[in-house]
Amino acid sequence: MAVGADNDPDEDIIMERDRAACGDLGHWLQQIGRDLDHFLRFEHGDAMARAGDWRAALVRPLPAHGVGIEAVSAEIGRWLIPNGSQIPNPASSAFITTGAATAGALATAAGAIAAPQRIGLTAFNLLEEVSLDWLAELFELPAGMKGLYSSGGSVANLVALGTARQAAFEAVGRDPARDGVDRPGRIFATAASHHTIRRAAAVLGLGRDAVRLVAADAMGRMKPAALREALAACDDALPVAVVANAGTTNAGAIDDLAALGAIARLHRLWFHVDGAYGLPGILDPRVRPLFRGLELADSVIVDPHKWLGAPVGIGATFVRDRALMSRAFTQTAADYLEGACEDGDASHSMDKLGIPYADFGVELSAPCRGAVVWALLREIGREGLRERVCRHNAMARHIAERADAHPELEVLQRPTLSICCFRYRGDGSGDLDALNQRLHREMVRRGRAMPSTTVINGRLAIRPCFVGARATMAHAEQLVDEVIAIGRELVGRGDGFAQGRRARQHNIDTALSRSAGHPTGEQR
Ligand SMILES: Cc1ncc(COP(=O)(O)O)c(C=O)c1O
Repeated sequence: MAVGADNDPDEDIIMERDRAACGDLGHWLQQIGRDLDHFLRFEHGDAMARAGDWRAALVRPLPAHGVGIEAVSAEIGRWLIPNGSQIPNPASSAFITTGAATAGALATAAGAIAAPQRIGLTAFNLLEEVSLDWLAELFELPAGMKGLYSSGGSVANLVALGTARQAAFEAVGRDPARDGVDRPGRIFATAASHHTIRRAAAVLGLGRDAVRLVAADAMGRMKPAALREALAACDDALPVAVVANAGTTNAGAIDDLAALGAIARLHRLWFHVDGAYGLPGILDPRVRPLFRGLELADSVIVDPHKWLGAPVGIGATFVRDRALMSRAFTQTAADYLEGACEDGDASHSMDKLGIPYADFGVELSAPCRGAVVWALLREIGREGLRERVCRHNAMARHIAERADAHPELEVLQRPTLSICCFRYRGDGSGDLDALNQRLHREMVRRGRAMPSTTVINGRLAIRPCFVGARATMAHAEQLVDEVIAIGRELVGRGDGFAQGRRARQHNIDTALSRSAGHPTGEQR
């Protein structure tokens, strides 16, 4: 009997077996594994070079009958994987994102099949808590802090600020989760704070404009004196939280946590630290002192899908009191959830739901992210992550050193962590923003180094950010070489530059060959 849209609706279409393959994973994963290993050699060029082909292959009418697992598997290998993202390429240092390390991918696959939900008394459920506690210990969070996984830094910030909102309004006798807010609230952040802070304020009913931007220094760090002034000018609005950065997205700057935390304490104000990117920086002994004051935090977030190398979809929020989180986010009871479990001892994994993570945040169904973080840390341990963080921070510093030593380069913001903001300046004349914009686009197109750009104090910078497990010092070297080589090409063509450059090039080359520092791009 055929099943399809053209069937008689009265016909009995109940089939014994589902059309979806639900097994043979060893076979299919082996095939996908081979395709992915090939992908990871990055010999396939960029997807857009073949866009006509894969778009035509993929944009098809909705299949009426389906093609079966063998064809789907072949299409994944042929059309999807080789036309995937440049993000896992170690030459990519754009934004703050990276490809998954193997252990995280394996644990993700294991969870998808063996424990699709984090609920129940399973090994996966246990690892939610074990790995959150590991993260808290690893990053030296205030004693007793407990965590919650969510989809990433945006939701992690939302959950933290939702908990802060709960605390602030409860302190004036109102339950905002139940009754909503009855007066304006204020969140104190800087222009360098992640833009999802404003969205979180909107989602929480405070409104985007509840976020007051406090003045920052040239590095993007909140000025403690400006915070004091902003608090004094808070009129009759309810202060909800101070948001500090432990690693700004733009340039990796770390706020003076000790000073800001002390001010927040003085005002009995929630102190939130956004360490989505930068919190693992505490593992680098050279950077660690900048985390002084972390112990004052009421909430902290970190994204395992950044420096830890987890597949995208894992952020973590930590707070001192998960009961407050629960009051902020608990769902009203659902019979089908509550009624499914027994009181008393459990002898079956479905006798209890386990820790009620669904009541601490905004997701009910959620994958087992803890097993992924557990696998990543179990594989390389604290020391493995420390080595990675130190290597990436050293790469950013190395770029700054090369830029300092090279007359055609300039550093626009010195690295704190693994981001270095610098640019090609040639002889310093012409429109350097336009030149670097063109340089950047050309560099990305060539694909040997793919950073992003940003604006530092009004000037356009090339911005590599290293977080990927595959990225090594050679990639940092290659990136600087590319900037020099392409910068010279563009200047040689007269793009964005004043006259007279060629005459000066000879002097620059002579200076370079005399310098005891690094070989020039051409020499590599
Ligand atoms: C400091 C900071 N906070 C929050 C976020 C948002 O994280 P996600 O993209 O995981 O939602 C980012 C993203 O880069 C970030 O750098």
